[in-house]
Amino acid sequence: MWSTNTNNTIGAIIVALWILWVSNQIGNLLIPAYEPVQDAVASTSVAKVPAKKAAEKTVGETAARAEPAQSLPVLLASANANKGKKIAKKCIACHTFKKGGKNKVGPNLFAIIGKDRAGVAKFNYSGAIKKMGGKWGFADMDQFLTKPKAFMPGTKMVFNGLKNAGDRAAIIMYLRSFADAPTALPK
Ligand code: HEC
Repeated sequence: MWSTNTNNTIGAIIVALWILWVSNQIGNLLIPAYEPVQDAVASTSVAKVPAKKAAEKTVGETAARAEPAQSLPVLLASANANKGKKIAKKCIACHTFKKGGKNKVGPNLFAIIGKDRAGVAKFNYSGAIKKMGGKWGFADMDQFLTKPKAFMPGTKMVFNGLKNAGDRAAIIMYLRSFADAPTALPK
C-alpha cells in the first residue's frame, strides 16, 4: 500500500496535469475563438461591397425623391420606352397598342398621342370623353394617367392612376412608340 504521502503526491500530480490540460483546453478554445473574430472582420470587409451598394441605392432613391419635380419635357427626354412596356402591364387587361389591335374594355391605343380623343371607331366611349373632345397631347396624357377620374370626371376608364411622374413619362414614351410617325417630343 502507498503511504498517504504518495497518495498526496499522486493527487498533486493529477491536479497539476488537470490544470495543464484545462489551461491547454482554454488555450485551444481561445485560438479558434480568436479566428472567427478575424473571419468576421474579413467577411465584413467583403460584405461592405454590397452593403455600400445598398447604401448608395438608398442615397440615390432618397435623392430622387428629394429632387424638385422635373418638367414633363425633361422627364420624357430621359424616359425609357422599355421601362414603359413593363408599366403598360397595368393597361393590357383593357388596351391593345399595336396597329389594328382590337378594342377590349378600353379602345385600341395605336398612335394615341396626337390623335382625337375618343377617336377610335366602333368603341363605345363615355359621354365624358366625347364631351371633352380635342386631341391627346403629352401634358394632358400625363394628367389623365395621373388620375383619370380627376382629369376626366365621368370617364369609363376604371384605373386609379400612376403616382410616379417618371413611370408616367416612361409609359407615354411607350405609347408614343406605337405610331407610323411618332409625335415630336415637347420642348
Ligand atoms: C380597367 C380597364 C382599363 C385599364 C386598366 C386602363 N384603361 Fe385606359 N381606358 C379604359 C376605358 C374603358 C377607356 C374609355 C374611356 C371613356 O370612354 O371614358 C379608356 C381610355 C383610355 C384612353 C383614351 C383613348 C381615346 O381613344 O381617347 C387612353 C389614352 C388610355 N385609356 C390609356 C390607358 C393607359 C396608358 C393605361 C395603363 C396605364 C390604361 N389606359 C389602363 C379602360 C382601361
